[in-house]
Amino acid sequence: MKLFVFHTPELVPANQASECAIAIDVLRATSTIATALNAGAEAVQVFSNIDKLMQVSEQWAPDKRLRAGERGGGTVAGCDLGNSPLDCTPDRVGGKRLFISTTNGTRCLERVRDAKTVITAALINRKAAVDFVLEQQPETVWIAGSGWEGSFSLEDTVCAGAIAHSLLTRTGTPLSELAGNDEVIAAIALFAQWQDNLLGLLHHASHGQRLLRLDCHEDLKYCAELDSLDVLPIQKEPGLLVKR
Ligand code: MLT
Repeated sequence: MKLFVFHTPELVPANQASECAIAIDVLRATSTIATALNAGAEAVQVFSNIDKLMQVSEQWAPDKRLRAGERGGGTVAGCDLGNSPLDCTPDRVGGKRLFISTTNGTRCLERVRDAKTVITAALINRKAAVDFVLEQQPETVWIAGSGWEGSFSLEDTVCAGAIAHSLLTRTGTPLSELAGNDEVIAAIALFAQWQDNLLGLLHHASHGQRLLRLDCHEDLKYCAELDSLDVLPIQKEPGLLVKR
């Protein structure tokens, strides 16, 4: 198995696809997607374009759909929800399809959608993602962070490092064999440095600070809890995620 980490969707090689792709947006799209599916949402359908989301979701019965839209951390007008995982309670999302569009996370998913298998990961479901990779043994795994509008983000790379670190320790594979690019080693180093204070790291992250300015303290705490949910979102068809 060879592992590659890409810090942003823009760095994911174009016109190529890996056997397995893991899309990450710790703050907060992939934390929200995992939480919604864990809470009983029927599926999560992702859109980079909000108008397209409105158009497609219009074809669903109003009591079977929820529209979640986020731009700049805030809720998009006309949507039922923003992008807080804490809003995805069983009574709110149970049995419904979540139609979601966010600033970066949904673009990341779009970028890797052609991989043979696409899963999503966040710190909260890191173990479920690692278990899946170990079970499937894909030859190539691309871990793609969402970043923020084309730039590096600490929270996505630390999660990539948490996944790589776990694969390394659980397989006993030498780092030089597992790492397909230098970013894997950098991501593991970031995780090794911050693994006992992931919330502290999220507070340093620029998007963490943006969310703190929007009073999303509880979201940061929730998103920093490593391995707290045993759920794995997997792509059933391009743009449609279900619980495995
Ligand atoms: C994104 O897609 O950039 C994020 O999920 C933004 C957010 O925190 O809602």
